[in-house]
Amino acid sequence: MTREDSTTTSEERLRRLRERLGGIAYGGDYNPEQWPREVWDEDVRLMKDAGVNLVTLAVFSWGRLETADGEYNFGWLDDIMDLLHANGIGVDLATPDAVPPAWLIAQYPDILPVLADGSTFGFGSRQHFDVSHPVYQAKSRAIAEKMGERYAGHPALCMWHINNEYGPVSYGPHADLAFREWLQAKYSSLEALNSAWSTDVWGQVYSAWAQVNAPAQPRTWSNPSRRLDYHRFTSDSMLAHYRTQRDILRRFTPGLPIVTNFMRFYKNNDYWAWAAEEDAAALDIYPDPREQDAHVAAALNFDLMRSLRKGQPWLVMEQATAAVSQWSVNVSKLPGKMRLGSYQAIAQGADSILFFQWRQASGGTERFHSGMVNHAGPNTRVFREVCELGRELKGLSGVAGTRSAAKVAIVFDWDCWWALELGNSPRSDLSYPQEVLRLYRPFFDANIPVDFVHAGSDLSGYSLVVLPASYLLTDQAAQRIEDFVSGGGRLVASYLSGIVDQDNTIRLGGYPGALRNVLGAWSEELHPLAGDGEEVKLSTADGGTASADYWTEHLHTTGADVLATYASGRLAGAPAVTRNTFGAGTAVYLSSRVDGTFLEQLLATERDAAGIRPELNAPRGVQVRRRTGNGSSFLLVLNHNDAPSGVDVGAGGTDLLTGTDVTGTVELAANGVLVIEEATSAATAAGTGR
Ligand code: GLA
Repeated sequence: MTREDSTTTSEERLRRLRERLGGIAYGGDYNPEQWPREVWDEDVRLMKDAGVNLVTLAVFSWGRLETADGEYNFGWLDDIMDLLHANGIGVDLATPDAVPPAWLIAQYPDILPVLADGSTFGFGSRQHFDVSHPVYQAKSRAIAEKMGERYAGHPALCMWHINNEYGPVSYGPHADLAFREWLQAKYSSLEALNSAWSTDVWGQVYSAWAQVNAPAQPRTWSNPSRRLDYHRFTSDSMLAHYRTQRDILRRFTPGLPIVTNFMRFYKNNDYWAWAAEEDAAALDIYPDPREQDAHVAAALNFDLMRSLRKGQPWLVMEQATAAVSQWSVNVSKLPGKMRLGSYQAIAQGADSILFFQWRQASGGTERFHSGMVNHAGPNTRVFREVCELGRELKGLSGVAGTRSAAKVAIVFDWDCWWALELGNSPRSDLSYPQEVLRLYRPFFDANIPVDFVHAGSDLSGYSLVVLPASYLLTDQAAQRIEDFVSGGGRLVASYLSGIVDQDNTIRLGGYPGALRNVLGAWSEELHPLAGDGEEVKLSTADGGTASADYWTEHLHTTGADVLATYASGRLAGAPAVTRNTFGAGTAVYLSSRVDGTFLEQLLATERDAAGIRPELNAPRGVQVRRRTGNGSSFLLVLNHNDAPSGVDVGAGGTDLLTGTDVTGTVELAANGVLVIEEATSAATAAGTGR
């Protein structure tokens, strides 16, 4: 790959990567330094059998690449890069700064992160760094420089991978200093900080900047605005580290994609801010095979990844072929499930299927985490499935680079997540991701494509917007929601939305302060239900009944229609679910956690009214997604059921996995997948994917 000028865009970098790999990337993390040299030859031979075209090197190799301060040893990495290139396998090269080596920690023990209680993490695991430590920063910059310089011209190099699953939070002295600087930049004056943090409550007023530090373990409950800012700061400070590493590598290889790997439902980092700095969102995904519905939570995470960069194809950076080793019981994926999960990611916009890891380790922490090649060697069910999938993916080069469009947007926002789960609220046991999942699931079940957006996004391209427990809404976010509804959009907001402002301060005058106007309703008091399992009855406007649990509110309408009323409990007779007409649009408010059937019907009514139709009418458990682009349209149909399901694929087209034409009703085996290249009508509409 030739050097490019610095204006090369992410789109262009990814297009070239696809071209170079021949479509979908297939492979995984490869740790050759854990194996004797003779195993490397077997590795590349087996990689070719499996159709591997990309491996990630050096993720945890800092101590092998820099053996003492400033003593670099790249010889082994040169050798393996050469060997891979000679065998036609590309490299995603990692900066190894997730694991500062033992010699560095021995020299600077205060690189180790400090916990909120003042104790320090020990050496012997990974991610053991305080990202604000100046020596850690300098040494990680130095090794990135060395690697950029050395490998920029290497023909195997296809992309860069920075660090690994950024996340450690520290409360040590270096974090203190950096937090103070971050706050000074944000607030300029102590008066502004005291006001934003409501420091007159419990007498926490600061009179000099030197008094302000990281929110280490308090004697009892601590200031929620300060802790919210600490979440923002830790995400920002890790992102600043990523950005520094990225900019170093960008200088050497402007034409290559640079990413880091994200995690499923990961709270510490605001992935909206992060994804904007990457060439692609990249996800590590480990659904627990013990969970019957693990594919639904996976689907949410996949749609989130697709949305983070506005529909741009994303990367599965890691998944397991069979078992992981991180839980108390590590169940292996059943035959066919790894393939199904891989196609699910592709159906939802992924352009890569990469695993952790190529060869299962024989020692160390994760020796029971499966690989593409397991302890028993290649003569296994798992390796046969790996080879079969690699072979199939070669036939899907046309799918790579295509996109999907959605008319429904669900708000997923890290500020909401952080603020909501800080505690000292009427209910402290609420899980934000579970609230989002509850409102996502009916769309998943009905095969309605969904985008995620952050609060404050431009909503003008959508017909239906859902706010699940969107607790913190800035003035700008509230305004955008009002504009969306008054312009003809349909809104569904659930309880605990719009309660606080950007400083985590309650919006006064009746809940939910940010949405009262658009909802045509307000609550005078919040009444979480006590204890698990406590329910209230609802009577619906059409004469039916429903139930609700967990949360209720004393709601009053100021123009909204009542769709359901509390029929039992202390709020009997008061409105529970309302719909308001606001400008040219409507806004529904759910003041309680309504039962699944009621929720499904309500959302079906809203999306029908918004003119939103499923990709295909398929039986429950059959997922259907469409990807379009470059004049082609692909319909991916996946049977998550453990039994065969009949699916009417309509005009259909050619199933790329079997090369046969499919039309009308098709019997899809349990775990079965179709990748249909659609005949003309859908294809002519293609190319319009956002
Ligand atoms: C994460 C890490 C990998 C590996 C896997 C499996 O995703 O990035 O290094 O540890 O988990 O547990």
